[in-house]
Amino acid sequence: MPSYEHTPVSLAGKRAVVVGGTSGIGQAIALGFASEGADVIATSRSTDAVAETADAIEARGVDTARQTCDVTERETLDDLRETAVSELGGIDVVVASQGAISRESVLGIGDDDWDFVTDVALDGVRRVTQALVPGMDGDGAVVNISSLAARLAMADLPAYAAAKGGVESFTRASAKELAPEIRVNAIAPGFVITPQNEDTYAEGTEKRVEIDERTPLGRVAEREEIVGAAVFLASDAASFVTGEVLTVDGGFADSAF
Ligand SMILES: NC(=O)c1ccc[n+]([C@@H]2O[C@H](COP(=O)([O-])OP(=O)(O)OC[C@H]3O[C@@H](n4cnc5c(N)ncnc54)[C@H](O)[C@@H]3O)[C@@H](O)[C@H]2O)c1
Repeated sequence: MPSYEHTPVSLAGKRAVVVGGTSGIGQAIALGFASEGADVIATSRSTDAVAETADAIEARGVDTARQTCDVTERETLDDLRETAVSELGGIDVVVASQGAISRESVLGIGDDDWDFVTDVALDGVRRVTQALVPGMDGDGAVVNISSLAARLAMADLPAYAAAKGGVESFTRASAKELAPEIRVNAIAPGFVITPQNEDTYAEGTEKRVEIDERTPLGRVAEREEIVGAAVFLASDAASFVTGEVLTVDGGFADSAF
């Protein structure tokens, strides 16, 4: 009989950088990674948010560093790589969870709104990959945060949809190019309560009722419910998973009526 010794889902000893990691889904992932034993840098543009999240990471008994970044400015991501290498000793896992949204129509959206969204959500993912992958010692995992909007048309989100579609295509292109040493996957969350949407999806609103009714699991997600997918994709248990988009949406996208 074979030994059947599988690789457990564990992040013990991993060094992770979570961009957009000081709020919402990214913050939940950063703290979840820390609870799973990884050293974690959670970063965004805000010095205060970085410091607050770093305190919460340290409270979980792992190492961190305090470093801001802006994904629209490549040199700040180079600084981030250098901090991760000098403070954590290297990078094993990168998560790109930064977000930008603009509610404009297909015919109405102008260059400024389009460029704002795509610069953060799509070009930002490219810059994160280009800046941080060289900090991996030829081995690691990248997890990009996409959205259901990549495959389901939602009103007045054309730039966001195009950016997320691009993130998924870029994830597959990266997975091919960086294999076999580095695995690159994406997570497509459905409706998750976070600071950017807690008013729109507040309990009792028309939108919330509609989403709850259309979702087979009958509700929206808490941000912590995205963490398990990220831990799995970042861990060696996902050693044969690359170029994949893992949808975490309570069944919304694949259900009719
Ligand atoms: N909340 C949802 O329902 C949902 C659904 C699907 C996908 N998503 C995606 O999940 C990711 C996280 O979204 P969230 O809901 O947690 O939002 P959020 O606003 O709580 O978090 C976004 C994070 O990105 C950071 N950020 C924004 N611009 C940045 C920049 N230029 N440089 C560096 N950091 C920057 C913010 O400071 C924040 O920390 C996004 O990619 C979003 O598109 C969210």
